[in-house]
Amino acid sequence: MSTPLVTSVISSPNRPNPLALVAPDMQAVDEVIAQRLASGVPLVGQISHYIIAAGGKRLRPVVLLLMANALGYTGRQHHNLAAVVEFIHTATLLHDDVVDESTLRRGRATANEAFGNPASVLVGDFLYSRAFQMMVDANNMRVMQTLADATNVIAEGEVQQLMNMHDASLDEAGYLYVIRSKTAKLFEASSRLAALLVNAPPEIEAACAAYGQALGTAFQVIDDVLDYAGDAAELGKNIGDDLREGKATLPLIIGMQRGNAEQAALIRRAIEAGDTSKLSDIVQIVQSTGALQASQASAHSEAQRAIEALRVLPQNPFTEGLWQLASQLLNRRA
Ligand code: IPE
Ligand code: IPE
Ligand code: MG
Ligand code: MG
Repeated sequence: MSTPLVTSVISSPNRPNPLALVAPDMQAVDEVIAQRLASGVPLVGQISHYIIAAGGKRLRPVVLLLMANALGYTGRQHHNLAAVVEFIHTATLLHDDVVDESTLRRGRATANEAFGNPASVLVGDFLYSRAFQMMVDANNMRVMQTLADATNVIAEGEVQQLMNMHDASLDEAGYLYVIRSKTAKLFEASSRLAALLVNAPPEIEAACAAYGQALGTAFQVIDDVLDYAGDAAELGKNIGDDLREGKATLPLIIGMQRGNAEQAALIRRAIEAGDTSKLSDIVQIVQSTGALQASQASAHSEAQRAIEALRVLPQNPFTEGLWQLASQLLNRRA
């Protein structure tokens, strides 16, 4: 995919770079992360450094930091909570790569590949529980409730997805339920936490949550498009993994709807068997039927919904950064 599938009508090159806006905050977050990875058990430090030092886009912290600044927060808890959401995210990745039997993450061998499944699962548990220790620092019951709910819903989403494996009859609503749970929920929580830090009124909190949910949904839809149209070197993870796991993601759901009987049957059989031998045929089908483009359009409407939610927030460079983030995400390749 050398050119974006849909030209974004909501992008504006004059808006501020969201990452630059929070660069000093992100440095503080990285310091918190480094401090809080400490453990007396060497393997814990080794594996958590292995995955965290590999980078990652730090998108959930970016959302939290931008939103906290947009709402005029002046304290220090946003750095702690941004580290918390990154720890939770990293824990889910450690577990997810075991479940998905993935071998490449952030451009290097997954932790399960390098250290084995048991160590990955246990260090994932360490990061989860460290995140819960850290969130207590915020001394805010709503913060704890939000994060407790988010981790619970993420787990439900991953389990639901497991139950959906090899089910080629999964429809868009079933797909949406999974991605809202496994991915959008943590974006929603990250964004809501900013509102909680400033004691925002309910309508502002709801707008923050709506922004995060819509952004996270768009993010996962694009991720699922990239599994067919992306480049492993750029993505830092293998493509075709979704098909190997028999995951009916949006490109395949739409591909089956739009393809002729033979094309639909080919996709259906591949999902049912988790068979990647016809991956190139399937890529061709999702391209020629417009299924990739339709998926991208669906991400586009979610991004637009995110941007609409920003309307009730104070208008400043950070809100502009949140706008820009939603827009840039549609054309991401990594
Ligand atoms: C990967 O998330 C898992 C999904 C929700 C698709 P990211 O793409 O944000 O992962 P990193 O942190 O940048 O590696
Ligand atoms: C990621 O799901 C969601 C969570 C980690 C909870 P995926 O399995 O779709 O993401 P990748 O492709 O492994 O990053
Ligand atoms: Mg995975
Ligand atoms: Mg997965």
